[in-house]
Amino acid sequence: MKIIQDTTNPLKKKTLVLCAYVTEKTNQVFGLEGINPKIKNAITESLNEIEGKLGKISIINTYDLIPAKRILLVGIGTKEKISNDTFRFASGKIAQKIKDMKVKDFAIIVPQQMQLKQTSIISQIIEGVRLSLFSFDKYKKEKINFSTNLTIIAPNSKDIPKVIKRAQIISDGVIFTKEIANLPPNECTPITLANFAKDLANKNKMKCRIFDKSQLKRGGFGGITAVGQGSKNEPRLIILEHNKGGNKKPIVIVGKAVTFDTGGISLKPGEKMDEMKFDKCGGCTVLGIMKAVSELQLPMNVVGIVPSVENMPSGESYRPGDIIKLYSGKTAEILNTDAEGRLILADALSYGEKIYKPKTIIDFATLTGACIVALGTNVAGMVSNNENLVKEMTSASNETYEEVWHLPLNEDYMNMIKSDVADMKNVGIGRAAGTITAAAFLQNAVEKTPWVHFDIAGVAWTQTGTKEKPYNPKGATGFGVRLILEYLRKNTQ
Ligand code: BES
Ligand code: MN
Ligand code: ZN
Repeated sequence: MKIIQDTTNPLKKKTLVLCAYVTEKTNQVFGLEGINPKIKNAITESLNEIEGKLGKISIINTYDLIPAKRILLVGIGTKEKISNDTFRFASGKIAQKIKDMKVKDFAIIVPQQMQLKQTSIISQIIEGVRLSLFSFDKYKKEKINFSTNLTIIAPNSKDIPKVIKRAQIISDGVIFTKEIANLPPNECTPITLANFAKDLANKNKMKCRIFDKSQLKRGGFGGITAVGQGSKNEPRLIILEHNKGGNKKPIVIVGKAVTFDTGGISLKPGEKMDEMKFDKCGGCTVLGIMKAVSELQLPMNVVGIVPSVENMPSGESYRPGDIIKLYSGKTAEILNTDAEGRLILADALSYGEKIYKPKTIIDFATLTGACIVALGTNVAGMVSNNENLVKEMTSASNETYEEVWHLPLNEDYMNMIKSDVADMKNVGIGRAAGTITAAAFLQNAVEKTPWVHFDIAGVAWTQTGTKEKPYNPKGATGFGVRLILEYLRKNTQ
């Protein structure tokens, strides 16, 4: 999709649909000041109908009184309630309408004198439009072959082309994550994910390293090997390096990629088990981030590490009662083979810390059902060993509207995963604080590096209770891609 900037007066703009935002209560229409009185009357009528309510749309014919064929009004709610998601949401609604109407080009007027920065509004508009036009139709005979071009109407400013390009790359990253995270488990195994990573590395000049089953065994990755041994689809450890930061310490980003989680010998109940194809979302988020990081050519070193397995029950599976040795050298008693994510992540985190001596380690994982119990399906759990990192992530989250909530982690929780026979056990005490005891297990894999963990079990895909957002159509959401790119942006400035 082509997106360009235009600085002309909107009333002189030739386009099929000219889109303008309107506020609730004050009925302010942005950018159409001084319009022909006939159109103005039609606008007033439309305003009575949509009342500026967030996402509500009305379309007006212009009868060739101006070069634009039609005007689309979209509500953004009351001025006081405008948030960092308002324009993403409202613009997503515009895009859906444009798609319904099969319109080949449209223009959006960027409102002036807003409490938000111009650049932030433009980023939101582009993300909202691009992500709302995404649909996963790979397995449908009838493809939704829709493409359209967008003109952003804004006064001249030298930053805007850069902002547009950046928002496009970020959207591409999120869409890439959604695309691979939505793949069904018969078509996406650890090897498939490794191939996606290799492709990315080739296209975007990154370094890629893949550990296969025997290399994992020899390398001492006891967690990945144990969880992966029950499936015919072999495990892989995927590593992507973006090296554009000279000798600066890298940022390591780890993501859980269980291509299907049956629970293993501790088999899950059948209901909704199909959704466990989304248990690879953390890893897919990391791949999407790496794609964008390399395309943005960020002047830093970033390493993506994706441990990938399929968790299956079979004659070769690991069992409850097994004691395994993780990459860190610590031993873990397996009490439930369905608590597999922490085992593969622990290996990846320890490896990342040991080999790369990073400045920061971040991880994403659909780790615990308990996180859904605690926070629901619109907020991710955040656990960390570093207060400053928590602050930085909270502030990035305020910008991108990927909501996070900080949960505590202290010695008491660490004690809850002590085992009688090994250094740790892979479950806590009953169901108490399930998200935190899982994080406590991960914390054991990180020795001294500032680390933050995101439990995205509730937010990685749309499920019951997920808030409707035009830019999150059914399926994987790509949660975390925009968040980390915002965090990295703040860290390069
Ligand atoms: N992938 C699941 C967590 C999950 C469940 C995410 C439902 C999203 C929706 C994870 O591997 C798992 O099974 N965790 C167990 C841990 C328990 C056995 C300690 C869980 O949450 O039940
Ligand atoms: Mn599991
Ligand atoms: Zn899992």
